[in-house]
Amino acid sequence: MITQSLWLRCEKKEFERRSALTPTTAKKLIDADFDITVERDEQRIFADSEFEAVGCKMVENNSWPSAPTDIPILGLKELPVSKDPLSHTHIQFAHCYKRQAGWSAVLSRFLRGGGTLYDLEFLTDDSGRRVAAFGFHAGFAGAAAGALALAAQRRGEKLGRLEPYENEQAMVTAVKETLGGSGKGVKALVIGALGRCGRGAIDLFKKVGLEDEDIIKWDMAETAKGGPFQEILDVDIFVNCIYLSSSIPPFLTHEQIIAGGKNRKLSVVVDVSCDTTNPFNPIPIYNVNTTFSDPTVPVELGPDQPLLSVISIDHLPTLLPREASEQFSSDLLPSLLALRQRKTARVWTEAEKLYKEKLAEAIKEGFSS
Ligand SMILES: NC(=O)c1ccc[n+]([C@@H]2O[C@H](COP(=O)([O-])OP(=O)(O)OC[C@H]3O[C@@H](n4cnc5c(N)ncnc54)[C@H](O)[C@@H]3O)[C@@H](O)[C@H]2O)c1
Repeated sequence: MITQSLWLRCEKKEFERRSALTPTTAKKLIDADFDITVERDEQRIFADSEFEAVGCKMVENNSWPSAPTDIPILGLKELPVSKDPLSHTHIQFAHCYKRQAGWSAVLSRFLRGGGTLYDLEFLTDDSGRRVAAFGFHAGFAGAAAGALALAAQRRGEKLGRLEPYENEQAMVTAVKETLGGSGKGVKALVIGALGRCGRGAIDLFKKVGLEDEDIIKWDMAETAKGGPFQEILDVDIFVNCIYLSSSIPPFLTHEQIIAGGKNRKLSVVVDVSCDTTNPFNPIPIYNVNTTFSDPTVPVELGPDQPLLSVISIDHLPTLLPREASEQFSSDLLPSLLALRQRKTARVWTEAEKLYKEKLAEAIKEGFSS
């Protein structure tokens, strides 16, 4: 078998501690006759020594530009903004296929360097489903943030800065402690309960001690009657985890919340879906994304209304970098193992086709963004 090389680059995005490859998945690739190069990276949740111990070749931080151009470069988040041409094959989230700000400038770097982009967001299996996504831990971390915000509000405080947890158990322990030892008695409603994020949110609530009957699980069938829904006002925490694909009636509205007055139980809304600026946002009660340093925003409800906060952080899995990386990387592994056949394996040929389509779009528009 021909040895396939793969280069794990460092991450440069602030606060990003996750990694597209972990010592576990790197070892599996090495066992399958891959030659794995890993850039030293202090911000990665995994120590360099963990990669070294499984047989990866360690190289200097951010040295990938000098790697041989036939070695694919694997990373997670977008590269820092630059005009430098890109001559390698990059496997990463590039956030440039949906006309995001600066999308065509990114693609022009690939055109000028002769490189190729395989965007992780668009790697799909035979049935068109994404091969790897971070949803589960987004829901898990979002539910944890919601529970922490509820506990803070009950103490008359505002939830402070959130920091990544070393592992899932540390997060569960911290949430339980903050809730006074257990989440028993707290009521939550999760919409999109059958999806990746929804399952993660339910798992966190169970692990911190909510009773099963206090975790209300809704998906398409339950929302088919059309919102707004009184049931949301009757729980402590509402977690929205739907994949929004069309216009739907809102789940909550200002008028409905105000009409609920002091009888409202709802204290915290966690909008994991974060369709904040989408005209079809089914939770049109806030309009900003919140951050780890300031995780909650109050809903403007006027006087004599109990406090209602929204958490709308759009990179929640960063709070659980180790588990989120392990899960993502192991879901990605079969596709990485198929890299040797990347000129014929569907996952890679489709990704290349999409790259070429997006590049053609940018060329047609004269790289005007
Ligand atoms: N905030 C973050 O950090 C973060 C991270 C990852 C994903 N996300 C977002 O979370 C959303 C969900 O992602 P996912 O991977 O869980 O998707 P998914 O496709 O696995 O699950 C979505 C679920 O929502 C349900 N759903 C869709 N419309 C609904 C409706 N009108 N009523 C009730 N249920 C409905 C679907 O049936 C499905 O079960 C996406 O918008 C994704 O971009 C956010």
